[in-house]
Amino acid sequence: MISGLNRHVFTQISYGLYIVTSYLGPKLNGQIVNTIIQVTSEPPRVAVIINKNNLTHEFISKSKVFGASVLDTSTPMTFIGLFGFKSGRTEDKLAQAQFIRGVTGAPLVTEHALSVLEAKVIDEVDVGTHTLFVGDVVTAEVLRVGEPLTYAYYHTYLKGRSPATAPTYNPDR
Ligand SMILES: Cc1cc2nc3c(=O)[nH]c(=O)nc-3n(C[C@H](O)[C@H](O)[C@H](O)COP(=O)(O)O)c2cc1C
Repeated sequence: MISGLNRHVFTQISYGLYIVTSYLGPKLNGQIVNTIIQVTSEPPRVAVIINKNNLTHEFISKSKVFGASVLDTSTPMTFIGLFGFKSGRTEDKLAQAQFIRGVTGAPLVTEHALSVLEAKVIDEVDVGTHTLFVGDVVTAEVLRVGEPLTYAYYHTYLKGRSPATAPTYNPDR
């Protein structure tokens, strides 16, 4: 009988790595996530899980829109460090990256991105430390050819870590 809770199991769940963005008035922000999934095909609908303490959380909660960029495998660690370990509360991250504005107003980071999409929030679920935002995709575009950066590649080859704000945080990893 299996009765334990071996957290190593969670490290075997596969993800990609993305930048999720949003805005509030004139302020723009974005952060790294590994937690984007497509939830339905018709209508095209995605979900993302964001820590309640993140500035991006505040912006998505209020503007009800978010952008997402699929990162390329060649993305440098400095770029991931900026968006994944620094907060927009202390750093103007978008001033340090190439982006365009989407039809929703969300900034869409084009640097190191294979593709971008933007979504309007249609539902949100309070899951404790985080909120799961569900959004209808309103635009999606491929920018260049490449290999999407996976969470496994990030850990295995780039020797990357995840901060405590990531839903998949594991102190042993
Ligand atoms: C590899 C990686 C994966 C991450 N995944 C998530 C995630 O899925 N959800 C989340 O809320 N934070 C995630 N984070 C943490 C945020 O990117 C980080 O807390 C960021 O500094 C928040 O910035 P903000 O305060 O400007 O919004 C991840 C970070 C890294 C490096």
